Parts: sequence; C-alpha cells; structure tokens
Amino acid sequence: MSKTFPTQSPPFTALLSVTLILLTLVPVSSYRPWPPNPSKNITDYALGASKKYEGSSEFVKLRYHMGPVLTNIITVHTIWYGTWKRNQKKIIREFINSISAKNAPHPSVSGWWKTVMLYTDQTGSNISNTVYLGQEKNDRFYSHGKSLTRLSIQSVIKSAITAKTKPLPINSRSGLYLLLTADDVYVQDFCTSACGFHYFTFPSLVGYTLPYAWVGNSERFCAGQCAYPFAVPQFIPNVKPFKSPNGDIGVDGMISVIGHEIAELASNPLANAWYAGGDPSFPVEIADLCEGIYGTGGGGSYTGQVLDGRDGATYNMNGIRRKFLVQWLWSHVLNYCTGPNALDH
Ligand SMILES: *[C@@H]1O[C@H](CO)[C@@H](O)[C@H](O)[C@H]1NC(C)=O
Ligand SMILES: *[C@@H]1O[C@H](CO)[C@@H](O)[C@H](O)[C@H]1NC(C)=O
Repeated sequence: MSKTFPTQSPPFTALLSVTLILLTLVPVSSYRPWPPNPSKNITDYALGASKKYEGSSEFVKLRYHMGPVLTNIITVHTIWYGTWKRNQKKIIREFINSISAKNAPHPSVSGWWKTVMLYTDQTGSNISNTVYLGQEKNDRFYSHGKSLTRLSIQSVIKSAITAKTKPLPINSRSGLYLLLTADDVYVQDFCTSACGFHYFTFPSLVGYTLPYAWVGNSERFCAGQCAYPFAVPQFIPNVKPFKSPNGDIGVDGMISVIGHEIAELASNPLANAWYAGGDPSFPVEIADLCEGIYGTGGGGSYTGQVLDGRDGATYNMNGIRRKFLVQWLWSHVLNYCTGPNALDH
C-alpha cells in the first residue's frame, strides 16, 4: 500500500491554524516538569473523573484527527547545542539506537516502542517500527546564544540544515530533528512549564515543515523538576533521589523526556493526528497522559514498580547495553498507560 505523508504541502486550513499558533506563540505539547501542575491533572483532560493515572480511563478521549503519523522509517537528526561530553552523547545515542534494537533483554526499549506502533493513520498504516539515529550537528559555540526562545529554536534548526559544512539533511518525509541543549542553556519556559517540547518548523522561517523536538539538560537549572526522580525538588523533604542508571543525572533525566517527545512526534507530528482534548494548540498526547508513570501502580508522586540494577540504580527498561528509566505511554488499545515492565500482561 502506498503511504502518503503530506508534510510538504499541508492543507490550507492547517497552515492557517499554524499561523494562528505562531502568532499567539502558544507552547504546544510540552513535557511538563515534575510534579505535574496540580491545577491541571488528568481529569482536566478527560471528560470525567479518572482517579488512577495508570488504570481506568474510560473517560480519556484520545482521538485521531485525520492527520499523518510517521509511518516511514524514522530518522532522528540530532543537534548538540553547546558543550557536550562524549559520554553524554553516547548515552543518548544508545537510547535512540535501542528503540528498534532486536537484541536487548526484556523489558526493553523496543518493547516500549511497541505501544507507539499501535497508532495508525487514516489509511491503516502503523507508525514505523524502525527508528534510526541520523546525522548529527554540533553547535558548539552557541550560534544563537545561551538563552533561546521558541522561535530562535527554529533558527538553530535552520542554521543546522543550511550550514556550509556538513549540513543536516532536509528530510521532511521521515526525519525528526532533535535539538538538545547543554546544561548552561536556558530555553523559554524551561523549568517553569517545560522540560522539552515538540512541534514543527515553519516554511516562512526555516523553508520547510520539519517535525522537531527540543529537550534541555536540566542538571544546572532544575534537576529536581526535569530530572525527577534522579533529583528531588527542595520543597519535598524526606524523599531520596533514585540513583540514575548511567551516572549522569541530567542526561539520564533527559532520556525519558526524549522518549516522551519522540513518541509524540511519531503519533502527532503536525499537531493534527492523535491527541486528547478539544484544542489542537494544547493537545494532550500519548506521553502527556502518562507523565511520571514508569511502572505498574504509578501515578501522583509514585513512579510505579520499577527495577533495581545490581549497582543500586533505578531503571525500567534495557537498551542494547545500558539501562534507562523511561515514562510509559498511553495505549489506545488497552485504554491505559503501559510499558514493557508492566506486570499485568
Ligand atoms: C483533579 O481535577 C479534578 C477536576 O478538576 C478535581 O476535582 C480534583 O480534586 C483534582 N485532583 C487533584 C489531585 O488535584
Ligand atoms: C497496528 O495497529 C493496529 C491498531 O492499533 C494494531 O492492532 C496492530 O497490532 C498494529 N501493528 C503493529 C505491527 O504494531
């Protein structure tokens, strides 16, 4: 069956709503810092009351809005903004490579991706089972400064695809652009309302419609929010942080946010496919519904049942060689949040 993916020429109505979104600069689809904003709990996204985050959910109305999902092989092109250590890059690369790895022990990152693959477009094509690490671009000298806005993020991506040396390829058919900022870079709304977000670039700014995500290293600014549970906010006494599986609190915390954003980009790349809630500028997507849940019983401030490594580190899934702690995702088949370490199936 032929698969179409009309990113090059979204319909006029989509462009119109995109323009409106741009004008109002509404943050779209953010991974919010922990603890989740108590004034906006899951029941706000549902048309009723759902007490248990991980469980019952007959009221969560996740719906398909007819737009494309990423059915082609997904290639993640990474921009390393600012100063990154070699080992930090290795951890993140291995996570992305693990998404479609066949040889990781259960519970695995590829098992986690199976929930994403359950989502289809209107032709019945599933999201791709293959996620590749694409080309990488280093922006070592902070081309757009150490404080980025949502719009200057698009300029960083433009610089990366138009660079004189080794530009990132322009792949609007199946590319994802992942901008990772170092721990000394502040991004608009970082820490207060976002640890990462995804959206797509505007042809008027960048020349193309490219799905992208930003995820920041929060270690310096707000690890207690964005790298929870590897760091705990000061206002919560008597809670010990978990030991992180790869020895880098900032980067281990980023892994779950990267997973969150890639899963949502795959299922809602142009903000017109899978989301709950009535407002496409504030979509509640497949990872938003499961924020903070890493295992069976999770919800509120409890991570759910996770695993302990021999070294005492906390994780819930295996990559090719490393271990990771990654939040669960909403399954529209089961109608609740799930992950590879679920105890019930
Ligand atoms: C969640 O939202 C509902 C409805 O807005 C409210 O009744 C409930 O108390 C909230 N729960 C928490 C934990 O804030
Ligand atoms: C494709 O999606 C359908 C509908 O959710 C699901 O039943 C099927 O198992 C999915 N296929 C794969 C390979 O995940």
